[in-house]
Amino acid sequence: KAEPPLKVMISGAPASGKGTQCELIKNKYGAVHIAAGDLLRAEVAEGSENGKRAKEYMEKGQLVPNEILVKMVKERLLRPDSLENGWLLDGYPRSTSQAAALQEFGFQPDIFILLEVPEEVLVERVVGRRLDPVTGKIYHLKYSPPETEEIAARLTQRFDDTEEKVKLRLHTHHQNMEAVLSIYEDITIKVNGNAPKEEVFAQIDTALAKLLEQRNANLGSL
Ligand code: AP5
Repeated sequence: KAEPPLKVMISGAPASGKGTQCELIKNKYGAVHIAAGDLLRAEVAEGSENGKRAKEYMEKGQLVPNEILVKMVKERLLRPDSLENGWLLDGYPRSTSQAAALQEFGFQPDIFILLEVPEEVLVERVVGRRLDPVTGKIYHLKYSPPETEEIAARLTQRFDDTEEKVKLRLHTHHQNMEAVLSIYEDITIKVNGNAPKEEVFAQIDTALAKLLEQRNANLGSL
């Protein structure tokens, strides 16, 4: 576990591999994975009023309004496990207003990871994606197939994982990302996400190790 705890933001187009990389980062560095999309899907599954409203936007690939999401993310960041072990914020912030809200609450990342993947690859990743409802693990029928027949039989698909819907999500991504990127420019590292997941992780791992090394050197010189 890193001391003080690591605070990481990870961003990239739909299906660029954010969730996949967060699982690998979490396993090595112990930070808590907080995915805006997962928080919203949990709310949708519960059938709450917020969940019902959120689903209308998610179906269209649009950003869910701040009054639904901002408080949810803030509360998750303030839970003891995130405060103690650090966090990996996945798919958040996606607008300047969300970034401003984080700053206002005092959440400042150490590093902003941007996964770069060409658009033609993203659609194939989305339509082949499957999720294990028991473990929460992300699979792909071709690139990350399930390990056993038992897992294969229980895999589910996300309601917004069609070619048509991912194109809507991509459009929203292009509309909003530029402004968010400019806020975190100084701490951004760009990672080539169009490689096997282990190779993508090796790039991220190198950047995180360097960050911790620099931090330790700074602490040592105090
Ligand atoms: P969200 O759940 O964040 O969806 P997304 O951004 O479209 O990203 P994904 O979860 O689809 O992909 P990912 O990058 O995590 O890729 P993964 O690792 O699974 O958001 C959903 C919706 O919620 C939004 O449309 C919006 O409505 C709402 N929302 C979310 N955040 C919001 C916010 N901040 N504000 C307002 N609304 C918000 O990988 C994809 C597939 O590729 C998998 O099958 C995986 O196995 C495979 N794969 C991964 N890496 C590789 C690799 N290196 N090589 C080959 N295959 C790979």
